[in-house]
Amino acid sequence: MSERVSNGPSPVGRIYARIAGTGSYLPDKLLTNDDLAKQVDTSDEWIRSRTGIRERHIAAEGQTTGDLGYHAAVRAMEAAGVVASEIDMIIVGTTTPDLIFPSTACLIQARIGANGCAALDVNAACSGFVYALSVADKFIRCGDARTVLVIGAETLSRIVDWTERTTCVLFGDGAGAVVLKADSETGILSTHLHADGAKKELLWNPVGVSSGFKHDQPNGGSRIHMKGNDVFKYAVKALDGVVDETLEANGLSKHDLDWLIPHQANLRIIEATAKRLDMSMDRVVVTVDKHGNTSSGSVPLALDEAVRSGRVQRGQLLLLEAFGGGFTWGSALLRY
Ligand code: UT7
Repeated sequence: MSERVSNGPSPVGRIYARIAGTGSYLPDKLLTNDDLAKQVDTSDEWIRSRTGIRERHIAAEGQTTGDLGYHAAVRAMEAAGVVASEIDMIIVGTTTPDLIFPSTACLIQARIGANGCAALDVNAACSGFVYALSVADKFIRCGDARTVLVIGAETLSRIVDWTERTTCVLFGDGAGAVVLKADSETGILSTHLHADGAKKELLWNPVGVSSGFKHDQPNGGSRIHMKGNDVFKYAVKALDGVVDETLEANGLSKHDLDWLIPHQANLRIIEATAKRLDMSMDRVVVTVDKHGNTSSGSVPLALDEAVRSGRVQRGQLLLLEAFGGGFTWGSALLRY
């Protein structure tokens, strides 16, 4: 596995990045499997049995990734009891930014009034939130930041080909956020990031600024292409590897975990990871049925739902993981 980035168990006197508050936001519009079956040759039965998805939320016309991320961020700040002037840095994981530039993080910064703090986007496709969380963790651990707002936000509906049944049934729009604060006791224990760019054509959107928009095609030719079955097999293997790596780096056994908070791409992939960890599904947070695959939004959305429903409690050990285009994948082990 390439590009290994890990940080292991805590040395004495270490500063941790601890989740002080979580938030999320979903657009109002719901699109059910039955709605989709009226548009393309598919069925509720196929979608549910192959993916676990029942419905997904779709952003309204004019509603952007930054809008969704902003609302999630405000909720996370309220939950953390943090005001904008305390934020040292904003990192947004997204592959569907509002604009080419400024970054979505800059747009959100202006709306929340955190003027002057650092702001950047991270593009790691569906692993965007885990990558962003890892970057934030490093800034806090080294003492360069004390309070960091980390957001995963997407409007994948904008780059889905709505006539292509193999992809359009999978994705949804949404955002989640966490506020990380420096803590002397506990927080993120380790993060582990990987990528394999050689597999880019198995899951990609081959249109961009430098390679050129296709002006004779709808949406400039921008749309998601995926060889689903190949992605599925690679994802299961990569996630098996990264969960083993995470436990090993922390000297923990799979039975020490309280919760698995996985990327929500496919219920069958989630179940495979849970099986690897010998975890019953009642200790796995599943939102794919209601959200579909919200890419960078999926992990923080699932986390926020589990926190607000009272399932995830302070002091519990959580394993977050994600896999996405690139390929990219990664994990974060944290004491909530
Ligand atoms: O978040 C980023 C990471 N992404 C993922 O992790 C996604 C990973 N891949 C998957 O989740 C699954 O591969 C899919 C859900 C995308 C597809 O499930 P699958 O079990 O791998 O199905 P398949 O691609 O092998 O297709 C099986 C059949 C095909 O028909 P034939 O060739 O057997 O006649 C497809 O044409 O299902 C057909 N099919 C559909 N049928 C009804 C594909 N999409 C649909 C559809 N409705 N929406």
